[in-house]
Amino acid sequence: MNETFDLVIRRADIATAVDRFHADIGIIGGRIAALGVKLAAGLQEIDANGRLVTPGGVDGHCHLDQPTGDDSVMADDFTSGTVSAACGGTTTVIPFACQQKGQSLRAAIDDYHRRAEGRAVIDYAFHLIVTDPTPHVIHEELPQLIEEGYTSFKIYMTYDALKLDDRQMIEVLATARKHGAMTMIHAENADCIAWLTEALLEQGITAPIGHALSRPMLVEREATHRAISLAELVDTPILIVHVSGAEAIDQIRWAQGRGLSVFAETCPHYLLLTDDMLDDGARGYQCICSPPPRDEANRQAVWDGLNNGTFQLVSSDHAPFTYAGPGGKLTAGDNPSFDRVPNGMPGIETRMPLLMSDGVLSGRIDIHAFVALTATNAAKLYGLYPAKGSIAIGSDADLVIWDTEHEFVLSNDHLHHNVDYTPYEGWRMRAWPACTLSRGEVVWDGTRPTGAYGRGLFLKALRPQLARPRHPLEPRIGPHKVLSGFAMPAAYRFQP
Ligand code: URP
Ligand code: ZN
Ligand code: ZN
Repeated sequence: MNETFDLVIRRADIATAVDRFHADIGIIGGRIAALGVKLAAGLQEIDANGRLVTPGGVDGHCHLDQPTGDDSVMADDFTSGTVSAACGGTTTVIPFACQQKGQSLRAAIDDYHRRAEGRAVIDYAFHLIVTDPTPHVIHEELPQLIEEGYTSFKIYMTYDALKLDDRQMIEVLATARKHGAMTMIHAENADCIAWLTEALLEQGITAPIGHALSRPMLVEREATHRAISLAELVDTPILIVHVSGAEAIDQIRWAQGRGLSVFAETCPHYLLLTDDMLDDGARGYQCICSPPPRDEANRQAVWDGLNNGTFQLVSSDHAPFTYAGPGGKLTAGDNPSFDRVPNGMPGIETRMPLLMSDGVLSGRIDIHAFVALTATNAAKLYGLYPAKGSIAIGSDADLVIWDTEHEFVLSNDHLHHNVDYTPYEGWRMRAWPACTLSRGEVVWDGTRPTGAYGRGLFLKALRPQLARPRHPLEPRIGPHKVLSGFAMPAAYRFQP
């Protein structure tokens, strides 16, 4: 190694999804150039002092500056959202370019690039949200956009403005199969929710707890099972997002046990919060999200799902609506009925520290599971690996140096998002990043964010290997004349 390192991080206790070792990390041009003991001097040096160092987080599910189509407004744009992410150890975000019905996907992407450009302090890729799968979208736009690096999309089974019917889902899934993209699915049964909501409102139940009553576990379980069945019919992998409890987990395990590529994501709020928070005054409004937090038994089932491998991802589902500010939770009035409150809560900054504190340091998961769940698997599932999600020679120097002895009580004042609350107010934290580096640059120094606005790069995602169908060379369903169009992308042809 003749070239001088730009930066050497000394005495790191490095943990990846599979390995743990002590080494110095040599960085050149924003990438990891060497891992070894007693590396040559760098132009700059950081002494990790034996602290734990993990890959920077990849938050595969967060909403930033996403147009909502109604009076609500997301409080975080690409600046505040990515600053907040970096301060909590995340170095890559994948928010959503959401197609409004009637809009082309290209227009949604262009608009979203305009929102991101010059603002992000860490790197970002885009998922698409497909709400209007016209023949043009299915046959022209999606294939072209996948080719250009937008290789994952989310589809919804609920919300009137977003939801697809089963036939539309099949069309999108078949396109994902044909062109090698990953489909994320929001699984809740829209008609069940509408019927229950109407009944609750007729009975005068308008308080936030009505939100949980209108979306019981059954509603999620049914949609999860249906999504799995449609994906099996088409023979394409899917990723069920924000899974909240046991009955949905049972469906996913059943599918995984049958050999289907069904991946699953959960979020800190399903690991740490329960539905009694919806009965807790202002906190009730703040904690309205979909699916809702469940009861204690479901919360435990989600931890079990992390440990038994059902889940591959813990994402934030950061959906930043203020409580009292414009476009926030109270947009429809001071005591709005539960069905008029924007869904979602903030969590982009707290995701990794909470999982470190309540997962690793509390003995619920090991450090390798932590890395896999917060970084490596998202990079793999969304086509960003191995540039992102690992500590390896050639990977981007996206790193977190952890202070795992930092006990404190969390308050919203600690956080850098633009939201006026955190659902974790008063939470006993046991860890926080002492330093976050993005491509070898310090973007959080343990006391303040230090990344320049606009330094974050847009990442073109590859076709994820994990999006490969189960039978790539043998489409086994439907009439032959339909299947003749199912030539596999070259990427699949010679894979083992
Ligand atoms: O309530 C939630 N999760 N809001 C964010 C949008 C979504 O469905 O992920
Ligand atoms: Zn969703
Ligand atoms: Zn979401």
